[in-house]
Amino acid sequence: MIDVNAIRSDFPMLKAHPELVYFDNGATTLKPQCMIDAVTSFYTEHTSNVHRGDYAIAAMNDRLYDGARESFARLLSCDPREIVFTHNATASMNQIVYGLAHHFLKPGDVILTTEAEHASNLLPWFRLTEEYGIKVRYLPLDRQANVDLEAAAACFTPEVKAVAAALVTNVLGSILPAKELAKMAHDNGALFIADGAQAVPHMPVDVREIGIDFMAFSAHKMCGPDGVGILYGRYDLLEQMDPVFMGGDMNARFQKEYTYELKHAPGKFEAGTPNIEGVIGAAAACDYLMKIGLENIHAYEKELRSYFLQEMSKLDNIIIYNPDNEYGPVTFNDREVFSQDAAGYLAAKNIAVRSGNHCAKILHEIIGTDSTIRASLYFYNTKEEVDRCVKACSEISLENAVGIFF
Ligand code: ALA
Repeated sequence: MIDVNAIRSDFPMLKAHPELVYFDNGATTLKPQCMIDAVTSFYTEHTSNVHRGDYAIAAMNDRLYDGARESFARLLSCDPREIVFTHNATASMNQIVYGLAHHFLKPGDVILTTEAEHASNLLPWFRLTEEYGIKVRYLPLDRQANVDLEAAAACFTPEVKAVAAALVTNVLGSILPAKELAKMAHDNGALFIADGAQAVPHMPVDVREIGIDFMAFSAHKMCGPDGVGILYGRYDLLEQMDPVFMGGDMNARFQKEYTYELKHAPGKFEAGTPNIEGVIGAAAACDYLMKIGLENIHAYEKELRSYFLQEMSKLDNIIIYNPDNEYGPVTFNDREVFSQDAAGYLAAKNIAVRSGNHCAKILHEIIGTDSTIRASLYFYNTKEEVDRCVKACSEISLENAVGIFF
């Protein structure tokens, strides 16, 4: 069970802005004090580099930095050696895509993805179409961006080498039938690659149970700091994969004749000084979420979202684009007012949402509009906040919203 009042007291932003209704959690989440303390103490009490210093503080940071892999391994039910730290989910995804392009893919190979993906799970693949002759195909979706498994099965030809899709999509919150797709991929000799950015912070994700070969997600969407991405990779695959970045710490040795030997995974993927304080903060956030329980977080958000949807559905001026999805944001528009103007009206009422295409720039063909308002929740949001948002949405009009903010 979630004690939302106790949880809210963990978040300084909620104290600093008592009037704020923060419904932009799909973009980034607020930060609990324990995470802020973990980052701050690195600067105030134990600054050093990692994997390089022969003194006590450096050794302590080595333990904290590498220990962070254990937190994420517990979260995902995997081995700590399967956790690589990068700079954001996009960097994790680019490492996966280019790592695969280097050794695993050949011209004519097909990647199956969806039109509901965020740019970070499309543009790297698009580039492979130019640079490596890889083909990108889309799994059929319904109007709320859900994959039809029967139609998906028909897409698997011998050329398909990977399925790459979001476990939960960032605009409509559509939940991928990941286990079934992973099985289809594996039965076809293909890999299953997950964008976990909108899923891992909100629900239990067991990479082995689902059958995930690679996954990208970021710390800042799960109460952690910016600038830390997590790449999960099956260890045998990580060992075969080449790093995108070369440099310090990731090599075992090199000689002047241009020969070199890399470290084993995960070290070979972490070239240069990493975001040490960020990784330490990310582990604190990960531990914090696990203490609350991802199942509890999921159940709380699902119930809150269902109440939000029920109340928004009563408004005649609002169109909702994901009414049948059970989870994720409520994504909508006022029937007359452009999304950014309507978001401006909500901002004037101290309600933070995101408007626009949310980096999913080909989704408009599925939902019939290229600009929506996304109100995305997290476990510190409340029914009272939902009521305030719904009331403000009921008031949006051409007269009060146009040009209000921007
Ligand atoms: N990927 C983030 C979002 O969906 C920024 O808003």
